[in-house]
Amino acid sequence: MGTSILAVAITYSYLRRRQIPKKRLADIIGNTPLIYLKSLSEQTGREIYAKCEFMNPGSSMKDRTALALIQYGIQHGHLGVKNNTIYEGTSGSTGVSLTLIGNSLGCKCKLYLQNDLAQEKYNILQTCGAIIEKVPPVSIVDSEHFCKKAEKQAYIEGGYYADQFHNLANQQAHFQTGKEIYKQTNGLIDCFVMSSGTGGSIAGISQYLKGKNKNIKVILADPPGSSLKTHVNSGVCYTYQEAEGHRLKNPFDTVIEGCGLNRLTKNYLQAKIDYGFTIQDKESIQMAEFLIEKEGLFVGASSAMNCVAVLKAVEKYPECKVFVTILCDSGQRYLSKFYNKEYLQQHKIEY
Ligand SMILES: Cc1ncc(COP(=O)(O)O)c(C=O)c1O
Repeated sequence: MGTSILAVAITYSYLRRRQIPKKRLADIIGNTPLIYLKSLSEQTGREIYAKCEFMNPGSSMKDRTALALIQYGIQHGHLGVKNNTIYEGTSGSTGVSLTLIGNSLGCKCKLYLQNDLAQEKYNILQTCGAIIEKVPPVSIVDSEHFCKKAEKQAYIEGGYYADQFHNLANQQAHFQTGKEIYKQTNGLIDCFVMSSGTGGSIAGISQYLKGKNKNIKVILADPPGSSLKTHVNSGVCYTYQEAEGHRLKNPFDTVIEGCGLNRLTKNYLQAKIDYGFTIQDKESIQMAEFLIEKEGLFVGASSAMNCVAVLKAVEKYPECKVFVTILCDSGQRYLSKFYNKEYLQQHKIEY
């Protein structure tokens, strides 16, 4: 009798141990919470929600993109035991996610970044083990452009160029983000609002949502200096004033990092967007302070910009009741620029 009780106890404890899921980094990406923005909702008389993508393990929605790019590289034989180096041009967030997920899967990263980003982004990448090279902000047609450099080095050294702007695995990863949003709002979402960098997020999310309900509006939030808004609203991307090579680059056009562009990428071209707004830096800075004060949310620059665009969308589409936007990353990556009053004054950015 005593022995059989012992045997049951041992079996039970063995089964319990066997049942603990052995989740690794890649397994805990996504399924982020949706938060109700009470202050903005009460001000507008609408229901406004935000998806907390800063709660991904690499602290941004780029974890989803990076995982998809790495999986694509492995599936297509570009990444493996012999060839384990990923090359990418990044404004920081994708680089952090590629580096951390890469580390967990035995891959290394060589990253090319513009030399005008917030200093903490370089610090984080180097701390996490990425090899980084800073390049001047130049036109995409220039061989020194951060994406061109990454592609060329990958070719020379025989590595994998992840190509977040044109690799469609990026936007495919965000079908899941769209699916989560639809489920979390019980299908009641009327309007989705966010910015575009590579375009992967807004492309995947908009395709999923419009596939579920074609009446859901999708709105682009665009920073100053980007011509994606004009592309959405009038079908024309390039203007003389906005064409790269003529416009002044960061930090003079905008203090927002990671989004806005003056060219059409393969990922962006998959997006289904109804309307675009240009958001002034001053509006984004004020919104960031408002979110800290009223919601306790310390978010990155593009997240604040997204929330300003929600307010503009409320005015444009009075029939919409439920709005969802994205909080892409945390404010901690923006202390030296977006949240730094001295920096803003020095660069004559109103706030
Ligand atoms: C902080 C931040 N917000 C928004 C985006 C836009 O995301 P996507 O590249 O999917 O368009 C990016 C892109 O790098 C980013 O870094």
